[in-house]
Amino acid sequence: MLSTTVLFVDPENPEPRSITVAARALADGKLVAFPTETVYGLGANALDYKAVERIFAAKRRPHNDPLIVHVAALEQVATVATTVPEAVLRLGTALWPGPLTLVLRRGASIAPNVAGGRDTVAIRIPSHPVAQALLRKSGLPVAAPSANLFTRPSPTTAQHVLDDLDGSVDLVLDGGPATIGVESTVVDMTQDPPLLLRPGGIPVETLYAFVPHLAVPRVPLLHAEHEPAAGPGMLLKHYSPKVRVLVLAGSPAAAHQVVGRVVDLLRAQGLRLGVLASREETPGYAAMGAQVVSLGASEDLAAAARLLFARLRELEAQDVQLILARAMPVTGLGLAIGDRLYRAAEGKVVNADEPRAVEHVMAVVEVN
Ligand code: TXA
Ligand code: MG
Repeated sequence: MLSTTVLFVDPENPEPRSITVAARALADGKLVAFPTETVYGLGANALDYKAVERIFAAKRRPHNDPLIVHVAALEQVATVATTVPEAVLRLGTALWPGPLTLVLRRGASIAPNVAGGRDTVAIRIPSHPVAQALLRKSGLPVAAPSANLFTRPSPTTAQHVLDDLDGSVDLVLDGGPATIGVESTVVDMTQDPPLLLRPGGIPVETLYAFVPHLAVPRVPLLHAEHEPAAGPGMLLKHYSPKVRVLVLAGSPAAAHQVVGRVVDLLRAQGLRLGVLASREETPGYAAMGAQVVSLGASEDLAAAARLLFARLRELEAQDVQLILARAMPVTGLGLAIGDRLYRAAEGKVVNADEPRAVEHVMAVVEVN
């Protein structure tokens, strides 16, 4: 255990003094958690093998799951990758800084453990003013996975970081809640055609404008469970809260019926149900006695993305034994939201419109 320092920073105009402290910590081989526009990152100097080792230890993350390297500006990409293809310049010019990560050939300076021994490296230029200030001040490429324990929901506040990593990170810059709330979109640019590895903060619809031949695996929500994962970090059970989660698809009317029935069946066993749903649906579920959290108005996918991980953490902290997460449309940010929900549910989806939906839900409780 080490003692973790928390420094509050103005998310718009971070205090130079705090940024200097954090930049020095990185240069000294320490771990610094910092806000980005997507989620909080757990940063270490990407040139320093030992510092990078500490990331894996703190997160209890397997070494074969590679890390994203963050840099301040497009000019810096050439210092961490061997070549910067034309398509990368095009994408980078248009969408960086922002929630986009591109996988390129790894430059020699990057510590090999960053990429789990691979000859590639994932690179992102974050737009958050605190992340930008830190990267500029340090002048370093910063390896930073999400600042959560492996398999836990990603952190969107400094408190989430402390909940998982207090005592194993040196410094946390608290710049308030992340504004996007789901991680960056990851695209492998070393393949032709480029391959979407993880849907995220930049919708695929936006990417098509720059990479029309982008290869997009079938919607993850519809992936069969036995299909091999597209990317190293794309394991099922990647965003698992402590409580069992199930995605509940289907019409609101059918979902309402299923939830009502499941609440009663669970209650008979002394158990409680949590529900994650849009603001329109939550009052009905609450009236039936479920523990309910809202992801905002159903039309507002940006709100749902921003709230998703925090609400999952909130629900699991309540005394519930099962969480039903209502399925979302899979357009725009909805693809990333659906992907994270599906992973939290370890691939388990029940359609409320099916005649045996209640049985299917209860079967999950039984195997607990
Ligand atoms: O928004 C984000 O991307 C956040 C913030 C902190 O920047 N970071 C983040 O990092 O989500 P992490 O480590 O939780 O997820 C990194 C993803 C994983 O799915 C990993 O497998 C993939 O990027 N990745 C990293 N390096 C790769 C590589 N060389 N080849 C293929 N995939 C890679
Ligand atoms: Mg992560």
